[in-house]
Amino acid sequence: MKCGVGRFIAAETLPETLDKVQGLNDEGLHVTLDFLGENVLDAEQAEEMAAMIGGLFPAIDRRKLKANVSVKLTQLGLKLDPALCLRHMERIVNEAAACRNFVRIDMEDSSVTQPTIDIFRSLLWRYGAKRVGLVLQSYLYRSERDAEQLGVGGTNLRIVKGAYREPPELAYPDKREVDAAYMRMVEGHLSRGGYAAVATHDPELIEQVLSFVRQAGISRDKFEFQMLYGIAGDLQRDLARAGYLVRVYTPFGREWYPYFTRRIAERPANLWFVAKHLIRS
Ligand code: FDA
Repeated sequence: MKCGVGRFIAAETLPETLDKVQGLNDEGLHVTLDFLGENVLDAEQAEEMAAMIGGLFPAIDRRKLKANVSVKLTQLGLKLDPALCLRHMERIVNEAAACRNFVRIDMEDSSVTQPTIDIFRSLLWRYGAKRVGLVLQSYLYRSERDAEQLGVGGTNLRIVKGAYREPPELAYPDKREVDAAYMRMVEGHLSRGGYAAVATHDPELIEQVLSFVRQAGISRDKFEFQMLYGIAGDLQRDLARAGYLVRVYTPFGREWYPYFTRRIAERPANLWFVAKHLIRS
């Protein structure tokens, strides 16, 4: 893969990706697999995506990997037809259930927040929190309320800061406010008895979460840390060695461009990293 893409994307093919997952598992890290794709507006392509994603569960099973799956609803045609997208998700969650596994719905930009929550709710009601979870973004003003409403009955929420460009009418423009909302969401969700996937590479927030769980007596089976493939590897391994469950979000496939540009945008220093690879290649 060109321009340093391989730092953030495991591989283009499934067999190569599963080898990388095995390597991460060998280091004590769990994985959530992301078959790259988004904004699919063609029914046939959405169908192919659903088949590929559903097929990940038996593939994980066959190799006895410690991995679950993350999915974006716009890759299953959410913007084309929400009813079709729900049917694809039902098929995927059925596959997950047959393999006693779990699928998490990623959260995309604010144009699809509500339809994403609607689909999650109907899947949660049908399959339960052991099979399906959701992501909420602390930069959106609405997310704390969404967490309160969805977080009853042990719901599994991944809490992130948020990766899309959103207007100040919808999202905190100030990073300090995003961080403060992040902590309120994690603490609130854990205090209500929910399961939290604490997804951040921010060492200060991780420290705050660790001191909160110690103080509040939250047991380790109520939360996990999640980080992205290729980012903060030392922190991932340190937390795993300290006995915490750490899960690496591991994207693979050919549709890497939008994911890759979000990772570059998050950290200007990454531009230098890409430039170095361009010069070498
Ligand atoms: P912050 O941006 O403050 O970064 C903290 C530190 O982490 C930085 O100082 C740097 O050291 C390191 N870092 C962060 N980003 C980096 C990068 N790109 N390259 C190199 N170093 C970097 N978002 C979303 O909107 N919907 C979603 O479904 C998800 N899903 C998701 C899953 C998982 C497992 C993670 C970890 C993140 C997401 N995100 C996401 C992305 C998330 O919203 C956010 O954009 C990134 O995690 C970066 O924010 P941090 O919390 O790491 O903090």
